[in-house]
Amino acid sequence: MNHVIKIFDTTLRDGEQSPGCSMNLDEKLRMAIELSKLNVDIIEAGFPVASQGDFEAVKTIAKEVKGPVVAGLSRANKMDIDRCWEAVKNAARPRIHTFIATSDIHLKYKLNKTREQVLEEAAFAVAHAKHYTPDVEFSAEDATRSDRAYLAKVFETVIASGATTINVPDTVGYTIPSEFGALIRYLKENVPNINQAVISVHCHNDLGLAVANSLVAVENGARQVECTVNGIGERAGNASLEEIVMTLNVRKDKIPYTTSIRTEQIYPASKLLTHITGMHVQPNKAIVGDNAFAHEAGIHQDGILKYQQTYEIMTPESVGIPRNKLILGKHSGRHAFRERLNVLGVPLDDVELDRAFKAFKDLADRKKNVYDEDILSLVETQEEKTRDKYIFKSSKVVSESTKLASASVVVEKNGQEMFATEMGAGPVDAVYKAIKNLTHFEGTLERYGVNAITGGTDAQGEVFVTISDNKKTTRGSGAHTDIIVASAMAFLQAINRMGEATSRKSPQGI
Ligand code: KIV
Ligand code: ZN
Repeated sequence: MNHVIKIFDTTLRDGEQSPGCSMNLDEKLRMAIELSKLNVDIIEAGFPVASQGDFEAVKTIAKEVKGPVVAGLSRANKMDIDRCWEAVKNAARPRIHTFIATSDIHLKYKLNKTREQVLEEAAFAVAHAKHYTPDVEFSAEDATRSDRAYLAKVFETVIASGATTINVPDTVGYTIPSEFGALIRYLKENVPNINQAVISVHCHNDLGLAVANSLVAVENGARQVECTVNGIGERAGNASLEEIVMTLNVRKDKIPYTTSIRTEQIYPASKLLTHITGMHVQPNKAIVGDNAFAHEAGIHQDGILKYQQTYEIMTPESVGIPRNKLILGKHSGRHAFRERLNVLGVPLDDVELDRAFKAFKDLADRKKNVYDEDILSLVETQEEKTRDKYIFKSSKVVSESTKLASASVVVEKNGQEMFATEMGAGPVDAVYKAIKNLTHFEGTLERYGVNAITGGTDAQGEVFVTISDNKKTTRGSGAHTDIIVASAMAFLQAINRMGEATSRKSPQGI
């Protein structure tokens, strides 16, 4: 019996598709490199036909990221599959992942097709993809609300056409563990050629059951699980990679399967994703939440000190959380700074290190303790600064509780400093009006959020914004001990990204 479960990571496709999680090419590439360090088996890098941006991102990841299989998603038609192949073909191990819905509700209301038509299109799509690559995955969208006998027929047909992985998505997060386990068993027993393909599952979390459903599927024969870092994804998200992997790791006595995941890379991957998307996990999130290993009750702390396993079923170190976080400050030298960056998984070359070290010293002058989160945030900020069109230089804000606020902002464009002053309902409003005036941005601020990166009143505030014009949506983030400065930096980053972004379609919607 095969005891290894393949981890198919769809953070960059299903995860990225969810509101507030879109990433640009550089961000996707950084995340893909992190996923390869995590040692996932398959990276689903995107949906190439959805937009030029998605296409470029999949193509770049296929070319640059070594290790995992690189998959692209395509609907079950020639145009999507051809485009998908163009994007993934440079990968050492490319996969085409093609899908079509199989439930009557989708056939009638979305596709307006008969069961026979869908069966034919599925077989055609897989056979077409197979001309390009031996590694073809087929997904029956909304499988859990499909007629079982029909679903079995579809899988039998696509395996006969060359599918090497058949995926059973719980697209709308509707199934429950007993039912899903029985469905996987049913498919194993009723698809005659099932042994020629790997059974995969792809669960959404609408009822909070995505991880439980994925695990029960493994117990019943699934050998690939599709999941995302931090469980990001459409609506309530996808099954969380870290929860699946650590359950298999901690409870191998009951679920005797392993994965290839380097578990100590889980926390760095989670942090990087949060940092890139601004999508924070809740503090009590299993494995990667801030409180996941925090023992508040005295009796628990006492127990842990006496014997760790009294209250801990896994160690923080096993998922990459250093038990003792090292704190740097203004007396820390370049060597300590570089060492810390290495531990955090961001080795920099000498030029990058010089720039980041200078930013670190500036920060340490303003803030007594510099934590890992501060370091990660300043490295990220430095990286983008080098190619920004608009660069924040300074701001001066006058804000009184009984009056309108006023803000003067200096922004650099092509080496030239520009200056504007505006009034606003509050300091952020005034600064944003001044920036709009300088950059001629006429779109909308969709979302604005601020978090303290660490504790303490001298903490850096990290501001996340989402902006849109009538074609595109972009995000920006900025971190500073002055949240008005962080707000200005975040807004300018989002505006700079407007220039790079392209609009996209969503896979299920077209
Ligand atoms: O949820 C779903 O059905 C999907 C498929 C495209 C695999 O994401
Ligand atoms: Zn999905």
